[in-house]
Amino acid sequence: MNLLVTGGCGFIGSHYVRYRLTHHPGDRVVNLDALTYSGNLANLEDIADRPNYRFVRGSICDRALVESLCRSERIDAIVNFAAHTHVDRSILDASPFVETNIGGTLTLLDVARALQIPRYVQVSTDEVYGALTADDPPTDERAPLAPNSPYAASKAAADLMVRAYHVTYGVPAVVTRCTNNYGPCQFPEKLIPLMVINALNDKPLPVYGDGRYVRDWIYVVDHCEGIDLALQKGRPGEIYNFGASNERVNLEIIERILDYLNKPRSLIQYVKDRPGHDRRYALNSGKARAELGWSPRHDFYAALEATIQWYVEHRAWWEAVMTGEYQKYYDAWYGGR
Ligand code: TYD
Repeated sequence: MNLLVTGGCGFIGSHYVRYRLTHHPGDRVVNLDALTYSGNLANLEDIADRPNYRFVRGSICDRALVESLCRSERIDAIVNFAAHTHVDRSILDASPFVETNIGGTLTLLDVARALQIPRYVQVSTDEVYGALTADDPPTDERAPLAPNSPYAASKAAADLMVRAYHVTYGVPAVVTRCTNNYGPCQFPEKLIPLMVINALNDKPLPVYGDGRYVRDWIYVVDHCEGIDLALQKGRPGEIYNFGASNERVNLEIIERILDYLNKPRSLIQYVKDRPGHDRRYALNSGKARAELGWSPRHDFYAALEATIQWYVEHRAWWEAVMTGEYQKYYDAWYGGR
């Protein structure tokens, strides 16, 4: 099978490219990535020289490029990871989110339709469902979309476009929605890597609001396994939720990070809350378990500690990405909190 993976130099995308090439060594993977601030060639250094892997720098908004790649590489499936993904950045400026997440998805769908590509997977997020209260049951795929951040709204819009292309033009697309991922190579704007790196640098750990927000955490490789099953077995037009039923309060994770690194709790600093901050996300993944035979394999604390340890051992990786543009964002966002 020849796959076009978009956003394959990002956090989840790079784990998926490696997963696919490891578990389907006869496949070819073409990785189209624009290498914006969060895409990093170093994430795939170990597989870059494989003959069945090709990296192409470019945007999913570039119709001519996407179409020529799909033709010349005889692409059988598109797996779309390419997206701006950070809620706080979307609060500062929503336009790149609309352009890439909605516009780029539309471009991919148009190419999939024109070339009759046999498979399309849209990698989405639990954030499209909006927030749960403490007493709500975990969200299943039938829940209405109620995105609250510009990021979540852009992903919800893209999901709806995928649905429309399936219903209207028969594009054989599936949508996957996952809870919060963690693991190596996550860009240090997200909770876990940001807290680990600040702790390693003895800098304050900025906790939004009361720190009692709840996320359902999944190890990135478990998510990749789900996407791969959705690609192989998902029914066109369907949505599959992936969550590890592992709900944690932010403060619990932050304290665990400090304890693992032998750093004092006094590094915790309560800062001004994120506007529109969703209190709780949690997914019901019964459908993926029943239809795809999926289940998460990684134990939370073991995988969290392995992740923290990865950052301890890869200082050069994160120092290289936390320069210029990153610092500008960090100062703009945390400076006012
Ligand atoms: P994040 O990793 O940005 O993921 P998302 O908002 O998409 O779930 O944030 C996870 C949680 O951690 C969320 O409740 C916001 C909180 N958070 C902080 O308290 N401080 C921070 O510096 C960051 C980045 C997040």
